[in-house]
Amino acid sequence: MVAVVNYLYPPAQFRHTHLQTHYKRTADMTHILILNGPNLNLLGTRQPETYGTITLSDIESMCAREAGQLGVTFEFEQSNHEGALIDHIHDTKAQGIILNAGAYTHTSIAIMDALSSVNKPVLELHLSNVYQREDFRQHSYISKVAFAMICGLGASGYPIAMRAMSEHLAL
Ligand code: DQA
Repeated sequence: MVAVVNYLYPPAQFRHTHLQTHYKRTADMTHILILNGPNLNLLGTRQPETYGTITLSDIESMCAREAGQLGVTFEFEQSNHEGALIDHIHDTKAQGIILNAGAYTHTSIAIMDALSSVNKPVLELHLSNVYQREDFRQHSYISKVAFAMICGLGASGYPIAMRAMSEHLAL
């Protein structure tokens, strides 16, 4: 069973009931993939001393608000499976990818290769400050292919990452 959260959020001013209009309006807009890896579906109850009590769905709502302010659309996905994360990276129509790969950050050459293969800007994101934690968290395969990395800001890192990606794509 693959747990996937997947929503497309057009900002409020572009929300239309007529689907065709919606797609026409969003076609020109910056579109961002926000991809979350293993165990992040458990945010809220998972090690609150490290990750806080905010849930992934709360974070998604924060991203929706930020998308409205930035005038971008986004997909918000989570999977506990390496292959499913790679499929999202291959299949997305987004121009940029914000990735919290969870523990795969420290192990997955396959995810790093997938990111290199699609040739899109990647922003690496972590809730916790991985550099204050165990040694095995201090190496990241994602950093090798990311233009930036944000960690230690908790849930606030997500909207900040969206703003950074949106500005990066506008350069
Ligand atoms: C994490 C940090 C990773 O080391 C860890 O395995 C996670 C969460 C973070 O957001 O702080 O699952 O990516």
